[in-house]
Amino acid sequence: MKWTAAKIKTLKGERKIAVLTAYDALTASLVDGAEIPMVLVGDSLGMTVLGYETTLPVSMDEMLHHTAAVSRGVEHALVIADMPFMSFQPSIEMGLQNAGRFIKEAGADAVKIEGGTVRTELIEALVDNGIPVLGHIGLTPQSIKAMGGYKVQGKTSEQARQLMDDAMAVEQAGAFALVLECMPAELGEMISNALTIPTIGIGAGAGCDGQVLVFTDLLGFSTKPAPKFVKKYADLNPLIVEALAAYKAEVESGAFPADEQTY
Ligand code: KIV
Repeated sequence: MKWTAAKIKTLKGERKIAVLTAYDALTASLVDGAEIPMVLVGDSLGMTVLGYETTLPVSMDEMLHHTAAVSRGVEHALVIADMPFMSFQPSIEMGLQNAGRFIKEAGADAVKIEGGTVRTELIEALVDNGIPVLGHIGLTPQSIKAMGGYKVQGKTSEQARQLMDDAMAVEQAGAFALVLECMPAELGEMISNALTIPTIGIGAGAGCDGQVLVFTDLLGFSTKPAPKFVKKYADLNPLIVEALAAYKAEVESGAFPADEQTY
């Protein structure tokens, strides 16, 4: 069974939704193998696999390349392409064209757009043209320069009210689900209760309808300190480095290749 945006919507109140990022066919097939219903090709790929400091330099070409690879690796999960910085902000027309490229050229099933009330016109245009949209509010890393850093959002009552208004506006515009990033758990729960579409939290507490994590964070690929909201389900970095060092040692000692690896 292939997941659709419409089917994901029906999960609200039925069961919690696990979402994970993936960046290539290999990682996508692992996510699909775990029967995770939604795979997000996040622009976090800029930092996790392309070596950028932030998500801001990520280009459409890079996102298309990785989204196409993820689509090839997935049989069941809904593939969501993250619209990178400046691929939709300049105009509705540009947003429509770039979202269309993710569907036509990269096999995506939906796109993710950062921003609340300010993006409702674009979300409406995309939905009217048959492109399902996952919204994203709270800490939106493409606005990191304006936000002044990776900070918890919605801590004052005024900010919380604005985030609630943003959430309602994104739902009203036709998004099928909404990512809530880095906000107090009480606000995450209040927004989740107020909406009829599922909320997918990342650092927004257990009251959300689902959760999303970054593939490389969950598996402990990096030695860099992870944000508080990350839970490492494995610590692969030392295991991988140990295996690679063992390979190097055996090449250097002549122990590899042995008879079993020799024709
Ligand atoms: O880019 C990304 O991976 C994301 C998720 C963490 C929500 O936006």
